[in-house]
Amino acid sequence: MSKGAKMPKPKPKRSVLCVVQARTGSSRLPGKVLQDLGGVSMLEFMLLRLRGVQADHLVVATSALERDDPIEMIARSCGIGVVRGSEQDVLSRFIVALDQYPCETIVRLTADCPLTDPAIVNAAIALHHERGAQYTSNVLPRSFPKGLDIEVCDSTALRTAAFLAVDPAEREHVTPFLYRRPEHYVLANLRSDLDAGQERWTVDTPEDLEHVRQIVSSVGRDASWTEILAKIGRTVAQPGADELRLRAATEADSSLLLQWRNDPDAVRWSGNGRAIETAEHDQWFASVLENPGHRLRIGEVDGRPVGFVRVDVHGGVGTVSVAVAPDQRGRGYGRDLLTATLEDVQADCQVVTLAAIIHRENEASLRAFRSVGFVPTIDPTKLANQPHLNLVTRAA
Ligand SMILES: CC(C)(COP(=O)(O)OP(=O)(O)OC[C@H]1O[C@@H](n2cnc3c(N)ncnc32)[C@H](O)[C@@H]1OP(=O)(O)O)[C@@H](O)C(=O)NCCC(=O)NCCS
Repeated sequence: MSKGAKMPKPKPKRSVLCVVQARTGSSRLPGKVLQDLGGVSMLEFMLLRLRGVQADHLVVATSALERDDPIEMIARSCGIGVVRGSEQDVLSRFIVALDQYPCETIVRLTADCPLTDPAIVNAAIALHHERGAQYTSNVLPRSFPKGLDIEVCDSTALRTAAFLAVDPAEREHVTPFLYRRPEHYVLANLRSDLDAGQERWTVDTPEDLEHVRQIVSSVGRDASWTEILAKIGRTVAQPGADELRLRAATEADSSLLLQWRNDPDAVRWSGNGRAIETAEHDQWFASVLENPGHRLRIGEVDGRPVGFVRVDVHGGVGTVSVAVAPDQRGRGYGRDLLTATLEDVQADCQVVTLAAIIHRENEASLRAFRSVGFVPTIDPTKLANQPHLNLVTRAA
């Protein structure tokens, strides 16, 4: 390096607060976080697992209700700080945590995920900082088992959410205000190549608790999630031979998507009525593939791709585009793709309403959307000068 050349300044490490949200008042399995798991309470089990998380502070956030006193006792006996606040307005509880432990980045974990792996938490924090994101999770799309859920937020963005959010779901679930608005916030997602998003390792029901107890008795407390998966294998049934399954798109799907998009019918019914150039497609594909604001899914039957669905999210409204491979049309896959998309968006809180803009002469598309409950929102006879549009919506 030449004399006097400046060394790049190392990025200052950002301070991190990791919050485990816990309460005893669960409707399906009351007091679940106090239940035994591996000889200790489920909460203590999780806190012991989390010792490897690289955060400046690890705290438990519970409600101010008396019935949640045992949660405070367990956390304190583990040497972990506790903050207490509203039971229902959990977003405000997180702000209490930030007020007591001011940090630039805040991680949200929930105590019904006792198998949370500190290595994934650290990877999500690292990705969040590397991307300069304001919200990062590992569930949009989900590729880790349900029960390893992690969310990382920029503290300023979360404070804005706490100030502005009025929808009760945005207050109860803490973070939807951010990830429903990809147009305002930079979102990122941590993905695993193992594609294990169908597996269920969370504890919501007595059956879940039994399942997680069996996992723990077989692998012990500190096994990594990949060691657990290797040991117990996949336990969720694979779809039947003719059943359509949605999976998140990968880089390898790029040329197939372009091919489907440029088929003459798809071009005819598309918004701009023209074929897409390869360079334009590549640029678009790279921008949406890892962006949680664009849910890009491939429909597969028996491992074969038969079509795709795309849901572009803006302010909680998801605009749906769908196409079936030309040689697979008219077999019900269009309807199946939309049905699976409804399940996909119902699995999280990102999309409140779904919308689609359909050419008024695109009978197959109109029928497919209607058959899964979409309804026209404008009277087509009033659109005489806009032959293209037929807006249909339904609640997600
Ligand atoms: C629109 C599209 C996704 C529908 O998928 P599909 O698999 O062909 O449709 P399905 O077999 O699921 O049938 C859905 C409905 O459309 C009807 N349909 C299917 N093909 C049709 C056709 N060629 N003409 C009229 N109706 C048709 C079916 O009878 C069914 O109606 P029903 O629910 O009243 O019984 C598919 O045709 C396609 O990819 N088209 C090109 C791209 C496109 O137009 N995308 C939509 C942009 S909004």
